[in-house]
Amino acid sequence: MQVSFTVNGRAATVDAPPNTFLVHAIREHLHLTGTHVGCDTAQCGACTVHVNGRAIKSCNVLVAQVAGAEITTIEGVAQPDGTMHPMQAAFKECHGLQCGFCTPGMVMSAIDLCTYHPNSSETEIRALLDGNLCRCTGYQNIVKAVVMGGQNMTAAATKPVAA
Ligand code: FES
Ligand code: FES
Repeated sequence: MQVSFTVNGRAATVDAPPNTFLVHAIREHLHLTGTHVGCDTAQCGACTVHVNGRAIKSCNVLVAQVAGAEITTIEGVAQPDGTMHPMQAAFKECHGLQCGFCTPGMVMSAIDLCTYHPNSSETEIRALLDGNLCRCTGYQNIVKAVVMGGQNMTAAATKPVAA
């Protein structure tokens, strides 16, 4: 079946069997391999993308369910000139990663978290990120990165436009 939607601001059409999960459409049909598969059973969060502005685990959604949707993957969060998203910059600054496998999903979930739960405490961030697993970092620097990323996002949103 053919399914059309928007990915990172561009129209896309995937021709895939009806039982294809979104993560496989993204990785294997659209070759956007920044979205990872860690478990394929909706536990680890490595496959997190945004669908219509909300974070979802793309291993748990059929591509047919996103017809007409606007999807953002980790490849779509930076500026066109390569300037990192404020959350990506915070993960870099706080060294919120080690092997990096969980990082795209963490960043996508963290952007959602700071958009819909701004100014969350470290305790709240730990609870809200419990759908994203990291086997390396012990989470300490990830939580620091999400705090800083939220502050960066607020600062970027309130920055006056240059005349
Ligand atoms: S691959 Fe989707 S939650 Fe682990
Ligand atoms: S940095 Fe390795 S799994 Fe999170």
